[in-house]
Amino acid sequence: MAEVRVSLVCAVLFLSSVVVALVEDLDDSFKDKRMDDVWIVDFYAPWCGYCKKLEPVWHDVGAELKSSGSPVRVGKMDATAYSGMASEFGVRGYPTIKLLKGDMAYNYKGPRTKDDIIEFANRVAGPAVRPLPSKQMFEHVMKRHDVLFVYIGGESPLKEKYIEVASELIVYTYFFSALEDVLPETVTLPELPSVVVFKDGSYFTYDQYEDGSLSSWVNRERFQGYLQIDGFTLYELGETGKLVAIAIIDEKEHAEDSTRLKNLIQRVSTEYRDHFNRDFQFGHMEGNDYINGLIMGEVTVPSVIILNTSNEQYFLPTESMDTIEKLVNFINSVLDGTAPAYGGDGIFQRVKRVAFDAKSTVMVSGTVQYIARQLWH
Ligand SMILES: *[C@@H]1O[C@H](CO)[C@@H](O)[C@H](O)[C@H]1NC(C)=O
Repeated sequence: MAEVRVSLVCAVLFLSSVVVALVEDLDDSFKDKRMDDVWIVDFYAPWCGYCKKLEPVWHDVGAELKSSGSPVRVGKMDATAYSGMASEFGVRGYPTIKLLKGDMAYNYKGPRTKDDIIEFANRVAGPAVRPLPSKQMFEHVMKRHDVLFVYIGGESPLKEKYIEVASELIVYTYFFSALEDVLPETVTLPELPSVVVFKDGSYFTYDQYEDGSLSSWVNRERFQGYLQIDGFTLYELGETGKLVAIAIIDEKEHAEDSTRLKNLIQRVSTEYRDHFNRDFQFGHMEGNDYINGLIMGEVTVPSVIILNTSNEQYFLPTESMDTIEKLVNFINSVLDGTAPAYGGDGIFQRVKRVAFDAKSTVMVSGTVQYIARQLWH
């Protein structure tokens, strides 16, 4: 009996040591060992509800990174017990997820799901710029990415700049580099070296005289020209400071009108790209629940709303948007300041507050009611 108990105790000890190995409990000694490896760390507070929700996800992240042979080590730190260290890492809220790589600390702001966190860890832990040495590699990544940034050419000051921008903006997207001969024949560049973004079935070249700094260009171009927008996308778009023109549609009740409006917005996004791309993001949103919660009013369906993500104002057209001319006029009136602006009372603060849960909530419950309800609190 005693023997059985001993082996049971051993088994329990063994199991818990395996668990510790997947997600390491960090203390003050982390300061010294963090530089040796790339770490992703959950800074939590024992009393915080969102932290408790993250716990099983975090365990799965640890398990999967370990089993996939990733070099990224997974840790968690009680930020209330080691508050000095936590504030050195700039932890302000709980939970805070950071990937630490050398001197750099990258904040994770995406949805708190296993797959999203693992994708982030693998992306950010890898090289800032990934070389594409062959045509096959180039085609492979073209298929996998809707938006693809590539530096094309040899060593240059532009490449150094690109690497610098990539090591910061890798939190958002991948960065690649290639020589001209791996590009498809259909791509012709006015000059080399160049930074190019492949998206929307086309490609666009960064122009340092027209486009401002490389990092602001990347930040503007990192989304497809036309998107299906949900609460989480809107939160992400907030960081671009762009105006977002959204067709609010209902593909079940108003199928025909919805499709027509969607097509109009889509056409404006491509045919007027040169005019509007710098300032606007285009897309559609299914249903008006989310927007109603956001503006604390009611928009008709289908209709168009334009949100200014930098000052939190919004614009509504005064006539029905049934031709491309009317839509373009409306967008121009927003740009030249003649359209009346509404809101500006912190709507995006509300977006941010609920965004962390938005994606998973929408997927789990299949409704945005929950978010709309939260917006009122
Ligand atoms: C959007 O907000 C920014 C920041 O306040 C402002 O500079 C810009 O003019 C606004 N755009 C429009 C079209 O209102």
